[in-house]
Amino acid sequence: MTKEQAQQALAQQFPNQKLVFGEGEGRIMLIGEAPGGEEEAAGRPFVGKAGKNLNGFLHQIGLERSALYVTNVVKFRPTRLSPKTNRPINRPPSQKEIRAFLPFLHQEIAFQQPRLVITLGNVALQAVCLPEKVVIGQFHGQMLRREGFWLFPLYHPAAVIYDRNLLSVYEADLQVLKEWLHQRKDELLYCKE
Ligand code: URA
Repeated sequence: MTKEQAQQALAQQFPNQKLVFGEGEGRIMLIGEAPGGEEEAAGRPFVGKAGKNLNGFLHQIGLERSALYVTNVVKFRPTRLSPKTNRPINRPPSQKEIRAFLPFLHQEIAFQQPRLVITLGNVALQAVCLPEKVVIGQFHGQMLRREGFWLFPLYHPAAVIYDRNLLSVYEADLQVLKEWLHQRKDELLYCKE
């Protein structure tokens, strides 16, 4: 099965949702939680506020979006109605939604064959590590070896917006990543085979 066929199958499974698939090239795969409103409207992952924040962090460690394949665990925007405005607002994906997208995420990893996977937040970390039970508080900022790729768990950039105490932890984690990348930059950034 090709990636396009797998995407079509997923679109048939969720006929009433606008799906936002991963995009990009390169052997570094970045996995977020689920698209927000701006991502849904653009049909592209991480283009809204969280995306801008993310691009800023990437820039700090010398990574360009063009070196990355960027995706989310859940491919549609999970929403609920705001009691104030009665309009859809973002909510975290449910366990059922996460589970529904796991097989595709694992196919996606197989299609992309990343050398390094960077997960943003707990949902992405847990999705990659299942059935192991892991939490971001324990593993953030550590380079972990998985079968076929390295895994580096980071907090979600949105968590850093809401909890300013996380900023220094996040920046220290980014430094670890930066040094690791620096040592492997040729392999990760330029090798396309
Ligand atoms: N947050 C995510 O996890 N993914 C996006 O694409 C946007 C915001």
